[in-house]
Amino acid sequence: MTFRVAILGAGPSGLAQLRAFEAAQNKGADIPEIVCYEKQSDLGGMWNYTWRTGLDAYGEPVHGSMYRYLWSNGPKECLEFADYSFEEHFGRPIASYPPRAVLRDYIMGRVEKSNMRQFIKFNTAVHWVDYNEDTGKFAVTVRDLKQDSLSTEEFDHVIVATGHFSTPNTPYFEGLEQFPGRVLHAHDFRDACEFEGKNILLIGSSYSAEDIGTQCHKYGANSVTFSYRTKPLGFDWPDSFAEVPLLMKVDGKTAHFKDGTSKDVDAIILCTGYKHHFPFLPDALTLTTHNRLYPEGLYKGIVSLANPKLLFLGMQDQYYTFNMFDAQAWYARDIMLGDIKLPSADDMLADTKAWVAREESTQNPEQEIDFQAAYILDLIAPTDYPPFDVEGVAKTFKQWEHDKEADILGYRNKSYQSTLTGTVAPPHHTPWMEAMDDSLEAFLTDKAE
Ligand SMILES: Cc1cc2nc3c(=O)[nH]c(=O)nc-3n(C[C@H](O)[C@H](O)[C@H](O)COP(=O)(O)OP(=O)(O)OC[C@H]3O[C@@H](n4cnc5c(N)ncnc54)[C@H](O)[C@@H]3O)c2cc1C
Ligand SMILES: NC(=O)c1ccc[n+]([C@@H]2O[C@H](COP(=O)([O-])OP(=O)(O)OC[C@H]3O[C@@H](n4cnc5c(N)ncnc54)[C@H](OP(=O)(O)O)[C@@H]3O)[C@@H](O)[C@H]2O)c1
Repeated sequence: MTFRVAILGAGPSGLAQLRAFEAAQNKGADIPEIVCYEKQSDLGGMWNYTWRTGLDAYGEPVHGSMYRYLWSNGPKECLEFADYSFEEHFGRPIASYPPRAVLRDYIMGRVEKSNMRQFIKFNTAVHWVDYNEDTGKFAVTVRDLKQDSLSTEEFDHVIVATGHFSTPNTPYFEGLEQFPGRVLHAHDFRDACEFEGKNILLIGSSYSAEDIGTQCHKYGANSVTFSYRTKPLGFDWPDSFAEVPLLMKVDGKTAHFKDGTSKDVDAIILCTGYKHHFPFLPDALTLTTHNRLYPEGLYKGIVSLANPKLLFLGMQDQYYTFNMFDAQAWYARDIMLGDIKLPSADDMLADTKAWVAREESTQNPEQEIDFQAAYILDLIAPTDYPPFDVEGVAKTFKQWEHDKEADILGYRNKSYQSTLTGTVAPPHHTPWMEAMDDSLEAFLTDKAE
């Protein structure tokens, strides 16, 4: 086949695109020439833990936002690849909430079984993407980090799979510059042990706040205070936790909140989310959105309305993750192979607006889960992605929500059924609050800690 495709990023989304092409090739399809650019030295994206913060060894922004002791915050049964079950990978059933290293191993397992590594150029950061109206081609300029040299290649399609949980959103609060303790964003949080015995303040009321707060509690923080802008997390927290309205200012160690209350704290962690940030895209091609289930500007949540030869994977807020990226990648592949024909620009815009309106009508997490399930079903229908029980997974997500409501520190001890294998996960050998070792070896052993 004569055309060329650039995939930017070798995290779960970029790997899904590689896997989708390989699956087509295995069925006899002629696939394009593919180059996947990855600035890290290995694949896996966010799932590669790094101790680094700030800039990497080559002066590029550190991508990783994951931390030591991070365990999955959703059941693994909800993110299982439809073509590669956890049971196939580990050779036996494992518990429902694995730590980071175990999930990384699973992601790697599907890659290593395939032929995909050969397409990835590691230590190569994408610096600029241009589109030439006359030739109809993209010019992708990359920096070889080891050689410190720039080069440019032409492509017919560009797939942006660079993630959107890497560039911190960092609001300012009065007095932060005088605060005598640590102030950091969740992106730079690495080790909860640093906060042992401390009173910590977390700004934000979403997953990062919840998870970093509970983790600091697990590893010995004295107290955890969450400060919310819109609404509290609302869980039934133990006594050493508190939820307060938004921080107004900091005066020395004293944090003052919107309701007039105050608290002395030792460290402040901004769990205030991330920005979609594409420094390599010109204004005419970039995607501007906040973290939402259906970004405006993307037909089927994938195809740039600005230029349909530019596609984005994994840019939505995520209940579903790995299997949604797969569904997107299979659909994107079929567009590129010509098996799915794109409608007119007006029809793509109208379809996108209808989905955006549908997202905006959702009122609670259950409806959001159903929305994302409907989106995935819409993507899978015209492709040959192995059918999986998307609605069954939605039920598991809803059960997960209820389990969190019931016990925010204990929900990770629950077990769920795989919709692929039918197996109900065995309980983990150690309750999550007592499981201090997050290594793959400790997780997979039969012995309690
Ligand atoms: C703290 C945290 C915890 C999470 N926990 C879970 C969880 O428990 N379960 C779950 O399912 N999901 C979780 N997620 C969501 C996670 O983002 C997805 O699982 C998944 O990693 C997204 O895949 P991706 O490929 O879209 O993006 P990423 O994994 O972010 O991968 C993007 C890749 O693009 C590369 N890249 C970026 N810019 C460039 C460039 N200019 N040039 C070349 N390469 C570039 C990066 O190096 C990276 O390898 C978590 C996210 C965060 C931040
Ligand atoms: N263990 C795990 O698996 C784990 C752990 C952490 C994170 N994650 C993942 O990481 C991703 C990102 O989660 P996230 O919590 O970082 O981001 P997020 O879900 O986008 O939430 C951002 C939070 O920041 C708040 N915020 C934004 N700007 C603010 C401001 N100016 N002042 C005060 N608050 C502000 C928002 O409040 P409003 O509600 O007011 O907008 C919201 O509570 C998710 O996919 C999550 O699943 C997973």
